[in-house]
Amino acid sequence: MGQDGPVVLDLFSGAGGMSLGFQMAGYQIKLAVEKDIHAWQTHDHNFGEICYQGDIREIEDPVAFIIRHGLAHVDVIIAGPPCQGFSRVGRGKMRSLQEGPVYIDDPRNKYYCEFLRFVAAIKPACFLMENVPDIRYYADGDRLLVDKAKAYLEGIGYAVSTTVLHANLYGVPQTRRRFFMMGNRVGKPNVWPEPTNDNFSVSVWQAISDLPLVTHNHREDEMQYSPRNELTEYQQLMRDDAGTLLYNHQTRGHNDSDLAAFSLMPEGGKYVDLPDHYKRYRDDIFRDKYRKLCRELPSWTVEAHIGKDSYRYIYPSRPGTPESARTISVREAARLQSFPDRFRFRGPFTQQFRQVGNAVPPLLAKAIGVAMLPVAKSELKDRAGCQAPQTFVAAAGDR
Ligand SMILES: C[S@@+](CC[C@H](N)C(=O)[O-])C[C@H]1O[C@@H](n2cnc3c(N)ncnc32)[C@H](O)[C@@H]1O
Repeated sequence: MGQDGPVVLDLFSGAGGMSLGFQMAGYQIKLAVEKDIHAWQTHDHNFGEICYQGDIREIEDPVAFIIRHGLAHVDVIIAGPPCQGFSRVGRGKMRSLQEGPVYIDDPRNKYYCEFLRFVAAIKPACFLMENVPDIRYYADGDRLLVDKAKAYLEGIGYAVSTTVLHANLYGVPQTRRRFFMMGNRVGKPNVWPEPTNDNFSVSVWQAISDLPLVTHNHREDEMQYSPRNELTEYQQLMRDDAGTLLYNHQTRGHNDSDLAAFSLMPEGGKYVDLPDHYKRYRDDIFRDKYRKLCRELPSWTVEAHIGKDSYRYIYPSRPGTPESARTISVREAARLQSFPDRFRFRGPFTQQFRQVGNAVPPLLAKAIGVAMLPVAKSELKDRAGCQAPQTFVAAAGDR
């Protein structure tokens, strides 16, 4: 698929959630940039040797970079700059947002400048940048960062649109919200995908109920796939091209007290509601440190924090079934993010969780990619990388 599709460069590619979605939409993923060795290994495993492993800030000349990697032009730049710096601001700060934007001087908040630098130098027909919705509240110097980036991109010839999309409306079993900035310089309107699903159309159980039973601390990276039930439509989609094996169905180990607490919790149950003798943390601060998934609802957002612990993703086991108390496996987290089972995660097990949580759900990326296709396929007279007419100046700290 996608032999003659638009050529894509994926910046901050991570494991490749966006790459995969765009590939499924018919694009050719020709080049990617990723610093983290394990995320790079995963991208490399699933897309062939097209990912450059290194720090994007050290790529001095983006045009020379793509040429060095065999590309005469790039039609689309997609990018997911790190968003830890824009992690959800606390309630107090949210209140103060009414008085003005927040500027937090975290160097990770400057990665969007790298995306701007690449777009300005390479001048693709169109681009898509993804981030957390809270990026909208941050300022770079005296202006909201999003407004500043938009003005810059408009200044170099792009029509720019922004929105927040809900992954569950595109068939992802998760209520994830993400900010997107889309732009093109082919004179066409930017088009966002129409929702394809209702709010609750794919539930946790429709997504993972077929996966083989495992206990906590299950560390086999490769096992036979024998489904526990007749496959749902979503499970059939996830098994497409997956063969007879199942990868990454690994789980964390837990102590006896936590396992007992997991068994006791009802679906949707939270840490704060546990009997006191199961509590190791302050329950006024960590009210939902533990959370048991609900079978009949989509999951809440699978965050990169799942790389540190999985307590917010307790498997919805039910009493009287052979299902054991545990947190979800990497494969189950990947299913909740709409990564098909043929997509294999590499690197240490905790890093695999992180890669899953960091990703744009492939089904959401695919929907956006499909909507962008008419623009991405437009012919441009000046295709190859032309230099930016002006340089973007970030506030304090720069890149
Ligand atoms: C939010 S994740 C991107 C997820 C990706 N778009 C996906 O859909 O799977 C951000 C990625 O940027 C990478 N990164 C952080 N700093 C970087 C740098 N200086 N150069 C290149 N990549 C970097 C991180 O390792 C991480 O994988």
